Amino acid sequence: MQIDLSGRTALVTGSTQGIGHAIAVGLARAGARVVVNGRGEKRVAEAVDSVRAESGGDDVTGAAGDLASDEGTAAVLAAVPEVDILVNNLGIFGSTPPLEIDDAEWRRYFEVNVLSAVRLIRAYLPGMKDRGWGRVLNLASDSAVAIPAEMIHYGMTKTSLLAVSRGFAKDAAGTGVTVNSVIAGPTHTGGVEGFVRELVGDELPWDEAQREFMVKHRPQSLLQRLIEPEEIANMVVYLASPYASATTGGAVRVDGGYVDSILP
Ligand SMILES: NC(=O)c1ccc[n+]([C@@H]2O[C@H](COP(=O)([O-])OP(=O)(O)OC[C@H]3O[C@@H](n4cnc5c(N)ncnc54)[C@H](OP(=O)(O)O)[C@@H]3O)[C@@H](O)[C@H]2O)c1
Repeated sequence: MQIDLSGRTALVTGSTQGIGHAIAVGLARAGARVVVNGRGEKRVAEAVDSVRAESGGDDVTGAAGDLASDEGTAAVLAAVPEVDILVNNLGIFGSTPPLEIDDAEWRRYFEVNVLSAVRLIRAYLPGMKDRGWGRVLNLASDSAVAIPAEMIHYGMTKTSLLAVSRGFAKDAAGTGVTVNSVIAGPTHTGGVEGFVRELVGDELPWDEAQREFMVKHRPQSLLQRLIEPEEIANMVVYLASPYASATTGGAVRVDGGYVDSILP
């Protein structure tokens, strides 16, 4: 398959690093016009440069804005009035004992991880439907279906995104617009690498360290290594492409077999 997204504009939220950055690179390599997002101008400008350098594409721009706020969202919508591919990648995570998560924290997780996506879907979906083509992809997690006790608030937001994706796919039925979620498993990002090192120490070379981490702390994984961000990006690029026209309302797994079920 030769994926050609030339002529399509893609906004990838939270793409100054990690999985979002890899998705931006993947979409730019496929020829899309890519808009990178993060909260601050400086990091967004640096990410625009690195996405250009890694993808070899020069149609990459930035739109800074905190998508958990009305003001930040308004700034991004003003900078990017129309998109064909919306990747709601932005997501925060952290562990807290369940009974210590207070109301403000529950609300913050919902605002950042769920409402940021819903606001952008509300803004961009009507245009996609009018133009008869569009892709909405929401980054979920194994934690959406295998809720970790120390991350209930995070798991709740990812389960919500599965519902959001299914619901808006129904709203877009028959229009040429597809809406899906991608269930990512444990992935090799900066934050996760630090977490692995905390648990298994600094002595082992990275390949052995991550294998030990997976076997001891994530034994459910059939991959027995962390997923590379590019592996998540590959699925997103495929789902964003015309080849994925019959996949909608779904939750597609790139979890290394982490979730122990046959159906998603
Ligand atoms: N890493 C994993 O193992 C894993 C596994 C399953 C699912 N996921 C999901 O995959 C997605 C990406 O994860 P990741 O590990 O790559 O994340 P990450 O490395 O923590 O990066 C988060 C990104 O979001 C941006 N950001 C944070 N708050 C923002 C806000 N309010 N408005 C706009 N941008 C904001 C950050 O940019 P600035 O700091 O520049 O603002 C950064 O680019 C998340 O939805 C996560 O839940 C991750």
